[in-house]
Amino acid sequence: MKTSFFTFTITIALLYFTLPLSMSQRCNRKDEKTLLRIKKSLGNPRVLASWTKNSDCCNWEHVECDLYNDRITSFTIFSSNISSRIPNAIANLPYLETLIFRKLTNLTGQIPATFTKLTHLKTLTISWTNISGPIPSFLGQLKSLKTLDLSFNNLNGSIPWELTTLPDLETLHLDRNRLTGSIPDSFGAFSGKVPAIYLSHNFLNGTIPKSLSQVNFTWLDLSRNRLKGDISVFFGVNKTIEAADFSRNLFEFNFSTVKEFPASLASLDLNHNRIYGSLPHTLAGLDLQKLNVSYNRLCGEIPAGGKMQSYDSTAYFHNRCLCGSPLDACK
Ligand SMILES: *[C@@H]1O[C@H](CO)[C@@H](O)[C@H](O)[C@H]1NC(C)=O
Ligand SMILES: *[C@@H]1O[C@H](CO)[C@@H](O)[C@H](O)[C@H]1NC(C)=O
Ligand SMILES: *[C@@H]1O[C@H](CO)[C@@H](O)[C@H](O)[C@H]1NC(C)=O
Ligand SMILES: *[C@@H]1O[C@H](CO)[C@@H](O)[C@H](O)[C@H]1NC(C)=O
Ligand SMILES: *[C@@H]1O[C@H](CO)[C@@H](O)[C@H](O)[C@H]1NC(C)=O
Ligand SMILES: *[C@@H]1O[C@H](CO)[C@@H](O)[C@H](O)[C@H]1NC(C)=O
Ligand SMILES: *[C@@H]1O[C@H](CO)[C@@H](O)[C@H](O)[C@H]1NC(C)=O
Ligand SMILES: *[C@@H]1O[C@H](CO)[C@@H](O)[C@H](O)[C@H]1NC(C)=O
Ligand SMILES: *[C@@H]1O[C@H](CO)[C@@H](O)[C@H](O)[C@H]1NC(C)=O
Repeated sequence: MKTSFFTFTITIALLYFTLPLSMSQRCNRKDEKTLLRIKKSLGNPRVLASWTKNSDCCNWEHVECDLYNDRITSFTIFSSNISSRIPNAIANLPYLETLIFRKLTNLTGQIPATFTKLTHLKTLTISWTNISGPIPSFLGQLKSLKTLDLSFNNLNGSIPWELTTLPDLETLHLDRNRLTGSIPDSFGAFSGKVPAIYLSHNFLNGTIPKSLSQVNFTWLDLSRNRLKGDISVFFGVNKTIEAADFSRNLFEFNFSTVKEFPASLASLDLNHNRIYGSLPHTLAGLDLQKLNVSYNRLCGEIPAGGKMQSYDSTAYFHNRCLCGSPLDACK
């Protein structure tokens, strides 16, 4: 027993000291070459100083290799003074699963069409950069995508319907761009599960497509656009919406006609729209962490009960004639 434990310890110790040596052979030569090209395209930024030929590329900072075939699977840069376009060469990392470029304010140009080759990509985040041009429809070909985050950029044009063909999409962030056009009809028919959707701070207009009434959304942020229509399609007893932000749009409908809200609803923000009628009594039956209906055209008494009187009066102010606690008593 003792001997075998001793042998075991020695083996582990040997492994521990020899592994780094054998690991110096890990890096795939093609990947190394590609990464060095990427570094050059990015203008040899200081953040990639560790990328030199005299060390194994699996040990370079900002990238990761997988343990099975030692190919580059992850490339991530947060905050850096990189002044260039997105290198086409990134598409020559065929095993890439995670690509994150965040807070690179001098990164410009468009999302390269070569990215269609990145079929293993699960996470694509290009956020807080200065990339521009359209959201390419070819992103619909990246069937492994779970997270697509293109928020806080300079992207324009409309939302391509092809994004709804991504079967595994869980999160879609297109907020804080310059997007125009309407929400595609296809958002009423995601081919996989329905992702959490963030489209705020754009110039989206048009009415909410009727097709959306068939979908069980969970997280939906449409705030700060120019959208119109009736958002009651998102509610109803059998819906699953949890957080809905429709604030600062042009929504105009009679709130009294919305009879039922799903029990799942935890946050509802409708401020700065043109919603009229009165607050439905069923709101009082909900356990909302947040409710804001300020800056609309609502009238009548705030329903009593539940949490309705616990929200700050600013949740209700600037309406046509809402009254009752926490606002002034009705006359
Ligand atoms: C972006 O580039 C401009 C002009 O070259 C420079 O002044 C600025 O510092 C850069 N921004 C960042 C965050 O590095
Ligand atoms: C960023 O890089 C540009 C050009 O390479 C340089 O002019 C600028 O001073 C840098 N800014 C910062 C904040 O390092
Ligand atoms: C971002 O790009 C726009 C043009 O697309 C340009 O006018 C602006 O100066 C750029 N900003 C930075 C910080 O590079
Ligand atoms: C997007 O912005 C570019 C540059 O400002 C412009 O040339 C192009 O027409 C815009 N595209 C759309 C669809 O607005
Ligand atoms: C949406 O805005 C565009 C201009 O950006 C305009 O041409 C179009 O008519 C608008 N559509 C609707 C339905 O308001
Ligand atoms: C939406 O969710 C409910 C359960 O909360 C379910 O009964 C209904 O079939 C779902 N609808 C769709 C279109 O998936
Ligand atoms: C909600 O679901 C229940 C049970 O699945 C069903 O009986 C009812 O008709 C549904 N109501 C609506 C408005 O779809
Ligand atoms: C809103 O709908 C309610 C209930 O259907 C109705 O009684 C009321 O007159 C409507 N209000 C307006 C301003 O149309
Ligand atoms: C409701 O929204 C308005 C407008 O953005 C804001 O001023 C107010 O503080 C908000 N109140 C609550 C309780 O969220």
